[in-house]
Amino acid sequence: MNFKKSHIIIAIDGPSGTGKSTTAKIIAKDLNLTYLDTGAMYRAITFAALEEGITPDDKIGMDQLLKSTRIRFDEKNQILINGILREKEIRGKEVSQMVSPYSAIPEVRSVLTEWQREIGNEQSCILDGRDIGTVVFPNADFKFFLITDLKVRAQRRFLECQEKGIEMSLEDIEKNLTERDRIDSSRATAPLRKADDAVEIDTTQLSIQEQVKKIEDRVSVVA
Ligand code: DC
Repeated sequence: MNFKKSHIIIAIDGPSGTGKSTTAKIIAKDLNLTYLDTGAMYRAITFAALEEGITPDDKIGMDQLLKSTRIRFDEKNQILINGILREKEIRGKEVSQMVSPYSAIPEVRSVLTEWQREIGNEQSCILDGRDIGTVVFPNADFKFFLITDLKVRAQRRFLECQEKGIEMSLEDIEKNLTERDRIDSSRATAPLRKADDAVEIDTTQLSIQEQVKKIEDRVSVVA
């Protein structure tokens, strides 16, 4: 790792539970980059919509919600929705089950994409998501696409939920990951897809340290 450019963007995409966010957080610290968890943004809008009782097909309701909802990250990268800490709520079962239908709404994607670009244009960032290398920053300096076997992903997510005190069974998690991947990959706007120039990394057999190293080894000189 030895980049000279003053501004860099690293895109990490892939299905749910492939270790994108854990990996990105460590790399952000190591390389002194801002970490942007774009999934948390989609989760936040989903939480706000569920709280207001706005369904994904309610176009007027969603437009108003997008205008009136203030989402920001605190210094610990935890999400605040209209000034209230909602980190735990956005990771829970209800939001996890509904986030993909809300994420498929073109207006939601357009507002969040714009915001992600604003942040990324202002500072060097590592972003994780589904469409970072294909849509949000197609000219990113480095693009990675993580894949992992479903059983391993479910087991990892299960342990993560247990650590955070979120109640979800292994079976529910596996079903949820499968369903989200299906919706995320098949939506018309910005589907989950590997960018042609992204480096694919299968993390099934890798520890977090190993996947971090694989990425950091590739983040080298950019004139
Ligand atoms: O990364 P995550 O599991 O927290 O993401 C939650 C959902 O958000 C995911 O199932 C689809 C959506 N998402 C998206 O559509 N585009 C992104 N760039 C990031 C997440």
